[in-house]
Amino acid sequence: MSMSQRLSTATPAPFTSRPLHPGFGIEVTDLDLSNPDSDAVVDALVTALDTHSLILVRGQTLSNARHVDISRRFGDLLTHVLKQFLTTGLPEIYVLSNVSEQGKPIGNHKEGWNWHSDLSYVAEPSMGSLLYSVEVPPEGADTLFASMHLAWESLPPATQTKIRNMTATHSYEGYYSRAFADRAPLTDEQKARTPDVVHPVVRTHPTTGRLSLYVGQDIVKQIDGLPAEESAALLAALNAHAISDAFTYRHKWQQGDLIIWDNRCTMHCATPYDDNRYRRVMHRTTVAGTRPF
Ligand code: SIN
Repeated sequence: MSMSQRLSTATPAPFTSRPLHPGFGIEVTDLDLSNPDSDAVVDALVTALDTHSLILVRGQTLSNARHVDISRRFGDLLTHVLKQFLTTGLPEIYVLSNVSEQGKPIGNHKEGWNWHSDLSYVAEPSMGSLLYSVEVPPEGADTLFASMHLAWESLPPATQTKIRNMTATHSYEGYYSRAFADRAPLTDEQKARTPDVVHPVVRTHPTTGRLSLYVGQDIVKQIDGLPAEESAALLAALNAHAISDAFTYRHKWQQGDLIIWDNRCTMHCATPYDDNRYRRVMHRTTVAGTRPF
């Protein structure tokens, strides 16, 4: 059988795909998303995301408006609390970049250089994100993705029992002050939009019912109800388990890649690059989600 194959669902999917990593992720091939005729296929991708958690489509040429239109088919879009990086004219697009124009950064640099699930620090975190590569360095700046379904399912049963009903506190302020210690602190308005929130450590996918681990670095401040040292040790152990090679896909970006991921059952981590030598411009839209349970 060739690497490209029709997905074997009851109704054949209207796209061709191949696996990206054992157990999760697909690359969809032969698809031009710039053409509104692809909308029916985008709707099939919305459904496919529940099963595959991560979808890559390479070789795209997307206007900002088309990126937003495609994203809206997944749900309502959120606008980021750091408004200074909504620089495309469309507030739904959050720019990640090391580039400055007229002395001002066009995007947030060094955003997401930690394992996290987007917007886990709000009460109703994002269900999914669509990240489009406008300009990428020839080396470095890979993004890593971990399947939190696989991470949960491979935990020893005793650990599953122990953590099944635990909760954790997620804090944007805590993350921001660590990640961006060299910048002005969050404003009162930004803090008011991002109070600490409590989420389950094990969450249920609202569409499939499949369980996943819901942890992360830096944004997750503590596992609730445990002494500080025990909480830190358990969190570190769960994070280390979740990012094992067996559950992790490393993406090497090419210009024109679009990756769609399910924040309800994956986490991801951007990696460094030579930012004095290379430019990186990425556009992300973030789809609204519901309260984890
Ligand atoms: C993110 O959404 O966390 C950023 C990922 C990346 O820039 O590769």
